[in-house]
Amino acid sequence: MFTLAHLSDPHLAPLPTPGPAELANKRILGYLNWQRSRKAIHVRSVLDAIVEDMLGKSPDHIAVGGDLTNLALPREFLNALAWLNSLGGPERVSVVPGNHDAYLHAEWKFAAGLWDTYMRSHAGRNQKRTASTDGFPYVRHFGRVSLIGLNTGIPTPPFFASGRLGGGQLELLGKILADLGEKKHFRIVLIHHPPLPGLAPWRKALRGARALQELLAARGAELVLYGHNHTQAINILSGAAGPVPVIGVPSASSSRGGADHLARYNLFAIRHDGNRWRCKMTGRGLRNAGGPVTQLEQRRITG
Ligand SMILES: [Fe+2]
Repeated sequence: MFTLAHLSDPHLAPLPTPGPAELANKRILGYLNWQRSRKAIHVRSVLDAIVEDMLGKSPDHIAVGGDLTNLALPREFLNALAWLNSLGGPERVSVVPGNHDAYLHAEWKFAAGLWDTYMRSHAGRNQKRTASTDGFPYVRHFGRVSLIGLNTGIPTPPFFASGRLGGGQLELLGKILADLGEKKHFRIVLIHHPPLPGLAPWRKALRGARALQELLAARGAELVLYGHNHTQAINILSGAAGPVPVIGVPSASSSRGGADHLARYNLFAIRHDGNRWRCKMTGRGLRNAGGPVTQLEQRRITG
C-alpha cells in the first residue's frame, strides 16, 4: 500500500508587504485584488489545520500542485520553501509550479527554482536547471508507483492565468507514460492547470489542453491530479487502455465558498493486488466555513 496526499493552491498568507518598485508592473493589480478579496479567502489558520490533519495521516508522499505564492515576490518564494520544509524533506514531498509562481518573468533560481530539490527526478540528481522548463517533466519512483511532475506556469498579461506545457514537455511526457506503462507502473501525473479542454475559462486555461488530453487518452495514466480551479472535481477520461481519472482539488487555504470550494486535500491509497492496481480516494477538509477538518467523502477510483 502506498498513500499519496494531494493538496494545491495554498496561496501562502500573510503576503509580505511589497515595495513600490515591486508593484510597478502587473503585480499592482494582483496586490489590489489580494487586499480587496483574496486575503479574506486564503487564510493561514485554515491551511495550517489542513496540513496538521494531513500530516496526522502519515502519507507516504505529499504532492503539492502549485500556486504557493500570490504575486511571486522574492520573499514569497523563500516563505514557500520554509513551508515545504515544514511538510517534509524532498524525499517525501513533490511540488509543481502554478501560474502565480510564474507571475512575472524572473530568474528561475530566485523564483520557483528555490524549490528545486522538491522537483527533481530520482534519476537526474545532477541535472542543471536554468530555465523554468528545464528538467520537466520530472519523474519520481516509489516502488512501482511513479509520480510525473509538469510545469505549466508561464507569465501572462494582466487578467490572464493561462498555462502552457513548454520546452517539449508534451513529447517527453508521451515517452515517459509509454515507458512506465510497459512496466505496468501506477502512473500519477501532477499538473497545476486542468489538463482537459473545457475545465477552465479560456483566460485561465491550459493552452494545448486538447493535445494533452489526446496524449493521456492514447498513452494512459492511472491518476491525473490538478489544482488551479480551486474546486473539487472528478472527470474520467476514456483512454485506449482504460479510464484515466482526472481529479482537481480546492485551494488548501480556502475559507469561503460551498462544499466543493472549501479547503480540502485528497488522500489516495494505492495498492496492487497481484492482478491489478486499486486506488481509493479519501477527501478531508472543511464541510462548513469555520468548521473543523473532517472526512468529506471516500470513493473507489480504480479497481
Ligand atoms: Fe490558485
